[in-house]
Amino acid sequence: MSNTPGRESDPSEETLRLLFVGDVFGRPGRKALARGIGRLGGAAFLDAIVVNGENLAGGKGLNTKTATECFQMGVTAMTTGNHLFDQKDVMVLLQKDKRVLRPLNYSDECPGTGASVYVLPGGQTLGVINLIGRVFMAPSDCPFHAADRVLSFWDRSDIRPDITVVDFHGEASGEKRAMGFHLDGRVHLVYGTHTHVQTNDLEILPGGTLYLTDIGLTGPRWSVIGVSPEAALSKYRTHVPAPFEVASGELLFCALLVVLKKSGEGCWVVDESRLIREGDKADEA
Ligand SMILES: [Fe+2]
Ligand SMILES: [Fe+2]
Repeated sequence: MSNTPGRESDPSEETLRLLFVGDVFGRPGRKALARGIGRLGGAAFLDAIVVNGENLAGGKGLNTKTATECFQMGVTAMTTGNHLFDQKDVMVLLQKDKRVLRPLNYSDECPGTGASVYVLPGGQTLGVINLIGRVFMAPSDCPFHAADRVLSFWDRSDIRPDITVVDFHGEASGEKRAMGFHLDGRVHLVYGTHTHVQTNDLEILPGGTLYLTDIGLTGPRWSVIGVSPEAALSKYRTHVPAPFEVASGELLFCALLVVLKKSGEGCWVVDESRLIREGDKADEA
């Protein structure tokens, strides 16, 4: 295994190109996502695209309109987080669209599902598990045991997907890194979302799992995690709540591109991985 950025795959090998995108923030985020996918050659050149959609609609939650916009770009699955219920319309998505996940370790009575298996264009199966942290976050069930339970269920039911990835939506880097070690050797990838700040710790853990603490923001670049600096500063300086305002201007696309290849034993292993953090002029077509 290697994670050499920029190395080209051997075209004779069977490979899969998977794109993971963190928190996509409002209209600027959706625009940056479309352009980012385009710069990678378009959805046709990717075997799967997994996006965190908790900030899709004006920075607060997601709804049918904004989720549909992403699915039309070729998004395979959409994870979420603590902003899941900011838009009422999300209930329809959770009940009807298996592509939209909610944190697995929410209550069993919460609508929707927290882990699903998707069939990729080449017939391979991709399992996506959406977890949420408990450190500096609202109470939820244990994400570590929730991950154990779903992996055990997939094994018992003989539906273990060919590739398994985990979006751990959390605030604390320590909790996310602990999850990396908890799942090391049992899944292909553990990555974090929620902080809207990309970390520089992409690496393969000793057991073979690719790990990243946070993918970072896809949205307005000159912002305070998506919000206009003026609105954010006003609140911090005066303590007076300020109107929530999505920042405008230059765009930022943060993502993780992972190339998998078949090992001699027929298992998918990480061949390449590349962190992406690209600025983009707001007015470019
Ligand atoms: Fe977020
Ligand atoms: Fe979040």
